[in-house]
This record gives sequence, C-alpha cells and structure tokens, in this order.
Amino acid sequence: MARIIDAPLTGSEASGCDPRAVHGSWGALDAAARRGLAYDAQVRAETDALYERVKHAIPAIEWPAYAPLIAAINRMKRAKNAVILAHNYMTSDIFYCVGDFRGDSLQLAREAAETDAGIIVQAGVRFMAETSKCLAPEKTVLIPDLRAGCSLAASITGADVRLIKARYPGVPVVTYVNTTAEVKAESDVCCTSSNAAAIVEWAARTWNSDRVILLPDEFLAKNVAAQTGIKIISWHGRCEVHERFTVEDVAELRAAHPGLIVLAHPECPPDVMAAADFAGSTAALQDYVVEKRPGKVVLLTECSMSDNVAAAAPDVDFIRPCNLCPHMKRITLEGIYDALAEMKHEVIIPEDVRVRAKRAIDAMLALPKEKPHAFETGRAEVAVELV
Ligand code: 13P
Ligand code: SF4
Repeated sequence: MARIIDAPLTGSEASGCDPRAVHGSWGALDAAARRGLAYDAQVRAETDALYERVKHAIPAIEWPAYAPLIAAINRMKRAKNAVILAHNYMTSDIFYCVGDFRGDSLQLAREAAETDAGIIVQAGVRFMAETSKCLAPEKTVLIPDLRAGCSLAASITGADVRLIKARYPGVPVVTYVNTTAEVKAESDVCCTSSNAAAIVEWAARTWNSDRVILLPDEFLAKNVAAQTGIKIISWHGRCEVHERFTVEDVAELRAAHPGLIVLAHPECPPDVMAAADFAGSTAALQDYVVEKRPGKVVLLTECSMSDNVAAAAPDVDFIRPCNLCPHMKRITLEGIYDALAEMKHEVIIPEDVRVRAKRAIDAMLALPKEKPHAFETGRAEVAVELV
C-alpha cells in the first residue's frame, strides 16, 4: 500500500527504504567536512546559479551543506572529461546540480552511446550503468554505489531466459532494460517503458508471430497487452516501488483533491493504470506536466521525480505519495564524489555477454527516435501467460 502524504518522507518514515540511504543535509554536511570541503567564497561563486534550479526543493539554510560537494564534483568532471547521466528519480541536488544529461532510461542509453566523454558516472541504478557500458565499451563507466540494484533486474537470470526460449521456440524475446546484461544477452530486442508497446508490435511483425515473450515485469506485460492486443508471455517480476500503488489510493487521492490529474508509470498494476488519466515512462510523465500544466497533479511513481518536474512547472500543485526506490536512493553526492575521486566502482561486463547484450539494445535503438509513448488509460485488464 502506498503511503499518501503531501510532503516527501525522509529517514525511517520513508516506505521501503533503508533510512541510512536517504539523503539529507546533515549527511551532506558531514560528508563534505570529512572530505575537507567547505562552503567558501569560491564555492559560493561556482554554485549560486545552480541553487536557483533547486531552491523549491532545498531550503536556503541547507544549501551550504550541499554546495561544496557539488562544486568539487563539477570541477572533477571538467578535469577528468567525465559526464554524469542522471535518471529522473535522482534527488534534485544530483539531478539539477551535477547531472549533465537527465532523462528516462531510454534517453540516458542514447546519451551513453553518443557522448564524447571518457568517463560516464551513472546516477541511476546498476542495470542502467550496464546498458551504458554495453553501448560505450571504450569508456570507463562508474556506478557510485554497487548496492544500487533493482527488484525487476534481480527477478530473472540468463539461465531462466534460456529455459523460456526452449519452451517457446520461434517466439521473439523482448526484455525490459531493467535487467542485467546477462539477461539482455539472451534476448532479441530490449524495450523501455517509453517504447514497450511499439517494440512488442515490431517484434510480432518481424518474427511473424502472434505471441511475444516480454520479460520480466508482469505488470508492464499486462499493460502492454492491453495496448496492443498481442498475446504476451511474461514472468513474475515486479517493481517493488510501483506495485505498492492501488486503486484505493487513487480513489482516496481523487476524493481528497478534487480536480486532481493522476499520472501513472506502466510498472503500476493494471487496475491503477485503468484508473489514471495518463500513463507513460518517466519522461512521458514529465512532458505531460510541462506541456499541459494541470492545476493539481499526482505522479504514481518514485517520489523524487515530483521535485524534479516541479522545477520545470512551478505553477503546478504536486500531491506527493511517497514511494522511494531504495536502490535509486543509494546514489548520493558523496558517493558520486568518491566515485570520481577514486575511479570506483567500474562496471565490467564479460566481452561475449556485452556484445550479445549490445545487439539487443541496438535493435531497440535502431527503431525511429520518437517522443515517449503514452499508454491509453481506462483499458480493461488483459491476462498474460506467466511462465
Ligand atoms: P523509465 O524508463 O520510465 O525512466 O523507468 C525506469 C525505472 O526504473 C522505473 O522504475
Ligand atoms: Fe527498479 Fe522499481 Fe527502483 Fe525502477 S523504481 S529501479 S524498476 S526497483
């Protein structure tokens, strides 16, 4: 059950989170001091403009705790020719103050393939860093915290996929990017929440098949099946953040906030998707808010995202149910500082796995670049075959 409140939770209140992993100004202050960094005139000059982008999320009194780490990270990036790819779920200090490219997992994968930098620091989770390494093998890819996993990526192995393929010969295998490189290596093509329905339709056409295997997210599979009419075979994986949202939450929110517009990520259960006003990838949700400017909105997704979208739509009132992703919240400013200073933790993928995984990612990237797709809401639930 999602926790419904009007302000972000922190510390031990945060649902599903290790409180030690949740950011806070005391942690940043202590981390900066331990690294010999202080809020001096030079740091002030380098960071004052950045504060304007996050002042809605970070109180002025707390800024001196964040600014020294931010200034030091930005200096190191320039000195080492590094870029930071920041996912939409990063906290605003990371997203707006040290991130060079920001977006959903598809947008970040495209940036990894195109950047000229020699070092990529992934401000996201491990599967995203693996995707970057698959696409940019000549670059050093760093993940600031090795514990930044994902419940979907952990739900399935390459051996599982091999067994599924043996059971359904000739049926194309589409895997969500929220998987390990080993799983991608067993797949025909990858997808993200931004293009899942289009990729499934493409795979059905290309393989001339009326069925498609879509792994490992059960809910994404059901939501795609409702959009496409294609028979889907899937797996019991779930996102531990999005599975917590319920239709009762949506009804409570609508009753408490008349006129509320409800946006959902397609990792949410199908009945939640049906009850929402709009659904799509994190980038699609951001675009909807920025373009449509709803008076009052709730994003049924990881809760740091509301802070980031609010910066681009300051006139919109955000209702904030707080479901933090404990894995995304492993990434902190101090972790990014240490990753760059000590060149840790480098992502290494065995070459044969990388090459095969890259083939599946490239097949996805070869499809025309489009705006993130919207899922039609209000659709009836469609059953999928779960292996
Ligand atoms: P997006 O591809 O929509 O950014 O989603 C990634 C993710 O991990 C959602 O939980
Ligand atoms: Fe994985 Fe869910 Fe966290 Fe996204 S929000 S990284 S799918 S656990």
